[in-house]
Amino acid sequence: MTTTESSTRAGADWAHWLDRWDRQQTAYLPLREARFEVMFQAVERLRGREVTILDLACGPASLSQRFLTRNPAARSIGVDMDPVLLELGRRNLGDQDGRLTLRRADLTDPGWTDLLAGERIDAVLTTTALHWLAADQLVRLYRQLADLLPEGAVFLDGDHMAYDVAEPTLQHLALMMKAEREQVFERDGDEDYAQWWTALEAYSERLDERERLPFAERRDVLRERRVDTRRAGIAMHITALRDAGFAEAGQIWGYFENRVIMGVR
Ligand SMILES: C[S@@+](CC[C@H](N)C(=O)[O-])C[C@H]1O[C@@H](n2cnc3c(N)ncnc32)[C@H](O)[C@@H]1O
Repeated sequence: MTTTESSTRAGADWAHWLDRWDRQQTAYLPLREARFEVMFQAVERLRGREVTILDLACGPASLSQRFLTRNPAARSIGVDMDPVLLELGRRNLGDQDGRLTLRRADLTDPGWTDLLAGERIDAVLTTTALHWLAADQLVRLYRQLADLLPEGAVFLDGDHMAYDVAEPTLQHLALMMKAEREQVFERDGDEDYAQWWTALEAYSERLDERERLPFAERRDVLRERRVDTRRAGIAMHITALRDAGFAEAGQIWGYFENRVIMGVR
């Protein structure tokens, strides 16, 4: 066990696990920080810095952490279905002097927006997450966001969004780039998503019972999840945003299928 993997006398080293999450996510997406930057620039320019953002499918809240650090008067509400990632976020970041709230909800649950009752959201940001949703779930989510957001508020999604089947060469090129990128795990021995989860669970098991992360609860949540591997492409995202009631929708950044799209309510 390395020093960073050990539970020290002062307590578990949660910052190490968030850092390791960020490194693992960046191994898949070398431009992850640049993508955050574009999303933040859009929010700050269009909505200002004293805003309340919704960090959708926040995981351990890497996005919220970065946004709140650069915008000291901002608030963030993070929502995710995974109790372990949320707990990791809470143990690392606390509530940032009342500016960060992390809540558990499944975005495919038709009633998930109830937890936002009374909140005025200026921007919704989400990264590497909505590709988990099936097309019908995405369409419903975009309608819910359109209902939730006041006029002028923005939605920003940084995620993989495929080219259309009518563009097979572009699709093929994007897949080649992705496959080349993923060689990093074999070539450089970088930790991948599954290895990170295995290591975190083993670490949690070694802790005092009171300090362990809620892995049993996580298994229950994942067991109930409907997984649909038919991913929505870029065209579907844009059409669904417009149909939902967003006045404008388009791509503002991209590297092959890794894109940022923006909707303006
Ligand atoms: C690859 S992680 C990305 C986390 C974070 N946004 C980031 O960029 O570091 C995908 C996240 O989506 C969440 N997620 C997937 N489906 C979800 C759903 N139906 N409702 C809520 N969260 C969901 C997962 O629990 C996980 O935290």
